[in-house]
Amino acid sequence: MTLRLGDIAPDFEAETTEGRIRFHEWLGNSWGVLFSHPKNYTPVCTTELGYTAKLKPEFDKRHVKAIGLSVDKLEDHYGWSKDIEETQGAALNFPLIADADRKVADLYDMIHPNASDSFTVRSVFIIDPNKKIRLIITYPASTGRNFDEILRVIDSLQLTDQYKVATPVNWKPGEDVIIVPALKDEDARKLFPQGWKALKPYLRLVAQPKKG
Ligand code: BEZ
Repeated sequence: MTLRLGDIAPDFEAETTEGRIRFHEWLGNSWGVLFSHPKNYTPVCTTELGYTAKLKPEFDKRHVKAIGLSVDKLEDHYGWSKDIEETQGAALNFPLIADADRKVADLYDMIHPNASDSFTVRSVFIIDPNKKIRLIITYPASTGRNFDEILRVIDSLQLTDQYKVATPVNWKPGEDVIIVPALKDEDARKLFPQGWKALKPYLRLVAQPKKG
């Protein structure tokens, strides 16, 4: 199934290291990050899962639940999680889906047969509290993802939803943001009474508002 931004993230039921879940119910009102791993007991994935576990306080601050997926059996997930704790200094603190029958991988188009017909690629989906897909990134199996970038995108999306702002190239939290073009000056004045810097009528920079 080809998924696109703005689509509702498909719901599913799956076994995970934290028990059986129904995805939408498990998400509740939170944001979600669903990400796939090519295979258990592989080195790059081991580093990614350890790092994601260390980011839990950052995910919590943003009301985000992380969930990983690998097309392996639950027993293998438990064995692998011991290695993750031992080598990365962080134990898994989010569920890992055991998708041995590839039901979820197929639903989210995580297997790209011309790359590999048995491994999933490194997919990432950011899902908002309305269950809409807000970001899709696909990395090759051999490249570990940048989870700091994923947090940065979540910060940007949450600002957009709250304040009608977009974020410029290479933006980092705390830097100026852009007033979305759809917002007319008269309406922008109500949202940003302190004013903004207009480099062009369509390029209006304003100090980053505080996220609520
Ligand atoms: C890994 O996760 O380490 C990996 C998986 C597939 C190809 C290369 C590396």
